[in-house]
Amino acid sequence: MAVALIILAAGKGTRMMSDLPKVLHEIAGGSLLVHAMMSGSNLEPERTVVIAGHEATTVGAAALAYDNGTIVVIQEKQLGTGHAVLQAREALADFDGDVIVLYGDTPFIKSGTLDAMLSARTESDVVVLGFEAVDPGRYGRLIMEGETLQRIVEFKDATDKERTIQLCNSGVILAKADVLFDLLDAVSDDNLACEYYLTDTIGIASARGLITTVVRCDETETVGINSRMELASAEAMFQVNARKNAMANGVSLHAPDTVYFSHDTYIGPDTVVEPNVVFAVGVTVENNATIRSFSHLEGCHVSRGSVIGPYARLRPGAELAENVKIGNFVEIKNAVIEADVKINHLSYIGDAHVGERTNIGAGTITCNYDGVSKHSTTIGKGVFIGSNTMLVAPVKLGDESMTASGTVVTKNVPEGDMAVGRARQENKSGFARRIMQRFKSCADSTQKEP
Ligand code: UD1
Ligand code: CA
Repeated sequence: MAVALIILAAGKGTRMMSDLPKVLHEIAGGSLLVHAMMSGSNLEPERTVVIAGHEATTVGAAALAYDNGTIVVIQEKQLGTGHAVLQAREALADFDGDVIVLYGDTPFIKSGTLDAMLSARTESDVVVLGFEAVDPGRYGRLIMEGETLQRIVEFKDATDKERTIQLCNSGVILAKADVLFDLLDAVSDDNLACEYYLTDTIGIASARGLITTVVRCDETETVGINSRMELASAEAMFQVNARKNAMANGVSLHAPDTVYFSHDTYIGPDTVVEPNVVFAVGVTVENNATIRSFSHLEGCHVSRGSVIGPYARLRPGAELAENVKIGNFVEIKNAVIEADVKINHLSYIGDAHVGERTNIGAGTITCNYDGVSKHSTTIGKGVFIGSNTMLVAPVKLGDESMTASGTVVTKNVPEGDMAVGRARQENKSGFARRIMQRFKSCADSTQKEP
């Protein structure tokens, strides 16, 4: 059956103490909202409806940036989770499948868990995702009768006895669209919070003779983020998992605790990652590469056999072919570096194309910015760039050309030529010794003066 997602993201998130809406705070370089959307996206939903309210324009834009087919619906007033889900009714009016409700502030629900809920749906009308909480705190409690869920009671409204129940509501709920909206029509705000609770649909479903079951998942999947502390511990949880996954997939991490991954990092087997490396968003590394210590990679691709760092910075658009060497204090931005190229020390290569087997000497800079526009540098195959060359873009260097150290290249260099652009050296015979003696005698006479 077709699946639609409703993601609740209208709340302010007061406890974050932030101008940024809660669901746009990030874990591993992805917003909480995008994490929630990613959990659901493996089900290939036919429709995704995001309920936005607080800072709706920004939240809506983030949802559309992730999936431009998303339907963003505004909940003007946040009158409760049940009221929030009802806002999706029109967007799903002609949708005749299962609906899964996710929360925008709950980033770690696994897609396998949602699959298990869909399987459970074949034998029941409503499926709720529950978990055994070590410390159930303020979560809603699941009131069971055997394997059937009778109702959910919110913490605020629960009796002391109900509060001892450890089986809690994650917030994720699944039902056919028409069933869900029919149930929500019957929900009132007659409770201590004066809110329309999504959770009240369960008691109503039981009263109507519908069958409601619970699928259980691990507590780590259901963590919701409400404060900066919770955001930080969720980030730590994510990193622990990402490191484990990388190692399970054949990546060597010399000091796993010091390597930071993004939600979309991919690293191939037999790649070695030394201590203190950051993979910001948009990085893919193929097999058998080495990422040496203190390197920072973002929005780049590293092909097999390449060695990066130590202390290298790969910025967005760095596209590295096989067996490239990028050494210490080298920055690459928006540049294609072909196979077997060496850029080993202290260089900036931006808006460039570097042909295979080219060697770029220490201290080389592509002067790509004139204060107004960016310009590109094209370097051919097998080129030798002498140390401290300034390549003033736009400029092209032909295959197997050379530049002398210290050259400021302002004109194209034809294939096979050598560019020399620096002041000619002159040696003044004995001058160094003479001038040193003069300096010393001057210094002596000033010290003797009273
Ligand atoms: C909810 C559940 C509770 C469950 C817990 C799990 C209800 C009534 N309670 O409580 O049983 O244990 O989640 O974390 O559902 N939102 C809107 N519009 C609204 C209200 C909320 O979009 O009018 C969004 C929030 O932005 C948030 C999500 O819904 O992303 C959950 O709302 P929240 O107020 O945090 O619910 P809880 O009190 O945590
Ligand atoms: Ca919450």
